[in-house]
Amino acid sequence: MDVRFEPSGPLAGRLRPPSDKSMSHRAAMVGAMATAPVTVTGYLPAADTLSTLAAMETLGATVRRDGDRVQIAGVGLRGADARGTTIDVGNAGTLMRLLPGWLAGQEGREYRFDGDASIRRRPVDRIAAPLRAMGARIEATDDRLPPFVVRGTRLTGTTYELPVASAQVKSCVLLAGMMADGETTVVEPVASRDHTERMLARLGVPLRREGNAITVSRVDELAVGDLHVPGDLSSAAFPIVAGVLVPGSRVLIEDVSVNWTRAGILDVLDRMGATVVGERETRRDGLVPAGEPVSELEVTHGPLRGTTVEGEEIPLLIDELPLIALLACFAEGETVVRDAEELRHKESDRIATVVEGLRGLGAEIEATPDGFVVQGGTGIRGGTIHAHGDHRLAMLGAVAGLASREGVTVVGMEAAEVSYPGFGEHVAALQRG
Ligand code: S3P
Repeated sequence: MDVRFEPSGPLAGRLRPPSDKSMSHRAAMVGAMATAPVTVTGYLPAADTLSTLAAMETLGATVRRDGDRVQIAGVGLRGADARGTTIDVGNAGTLMRLLPGWLAGQEGREYRFDGDASIRRRPVDRIAAPLRAMGARIEATDDRLPPFVVRGTRLTGTTYELPVASAQVKSCVLLAGMMADGETTVVEPVASRDHTERMLARLGVPLRREGNAITVSRVDELAVGDLHVPGDLSSAAFPIVAGVLVPGSRVLIEDVSVNWTRAGILDVLDRMGATVVGERETRRDGLVPAGEPVSELEVTHGPLRGTTVEGEEIPLLIDELPLIALLACFAEGETVVRDAEELRHKESDRIATVVEGLRGLGAEIEATPDGFVVQGGTGIRGGTIHAHGDHRLAMLGAVAGLASREGVTVVGMEAAEVSYPGFGEHVAALQRG
């Protein structure tokens, strides 16, 4: 589907972003692990997280959904059985990387995973290595890609050092650790999003954090109760950046998670000179809070300057880097993003697709092996951008169009449904003011 986004007048209004995708995936999984029925409110009804509900049904859970309210009658921690049916993860990398952690601990059962064309180029060797170290057997295509098979076994706790910061891999090991004998420790090189830790801590799972090492012990039964999912800052980032870039705008975002492991984009906006007002969580090393901080943010248009984004900051804004490239086009001076090689393994190779996409709209942007460099100040002329089946690229093109001089056509806008159902309506509402 091609959608045209014309240069916009001031954006104004208040919106509640779609619910958090990362937390919704996790809520569905712990709901299916629970012994008693679980109600999740604020569940994200988007393509990715519906894939997770369908996967839980494949494993024997009963799921009833009414809008963003989901009731899950689970199978218990050790009762997941796909009975030979392939688990279709669709486009959802988080589902593909987390779920094998739980299933690897189901003794004597076997699970086949597959997904769409984009998922078939996303590596799973990063989860196969720790799961094999714990005793599971994983057979992947070319030893690193989907489709792949997980053979469950009685797992043994281990200590695993992540070669790169990845919340997906960390979470996979923690879920496997709940199934394993003894203690399992996962060490991350730098902090990544900690929703799994917070959720498990809230459910009373024995879990501790010492520096960058997180340790979990075996669990026999999971009591979940009810869960609520707040708004997604990664989705909110699109209207936030639109508000920063379109002259005269003032946008209010309500009920959004400001977990510091997700809020790096707000720090970058501060450094670039944007005005984003609202309470935020400050860095909380060594502590696993049992829940998620929520806030309201107010964004106004203003001039920007270039910045450098690198090192420990990257995992805290990994999904917002395409938007940082767009902000950089409007900022005085140079913006450099480095240490972000992980972008090449997302729903598309986001270094290639962002650089090629924005350059086609008139940006002065160059790719590097682990990021990009933007010469800013010229804004966005306009033109056509291809989403490449990547939801964040589709919405990047839309925001670029609103802030452009000539308008932007996004080819493949339907990809936005993966994380942001109703994106077009939100844009239209902000334009009406
Ligand atoms: C996610 C973690 C991130 C992120 C993805 C969701 C998660 O990936 O890019 O959209 O829910 O754990 P990595 O931390 O594996 O890079």
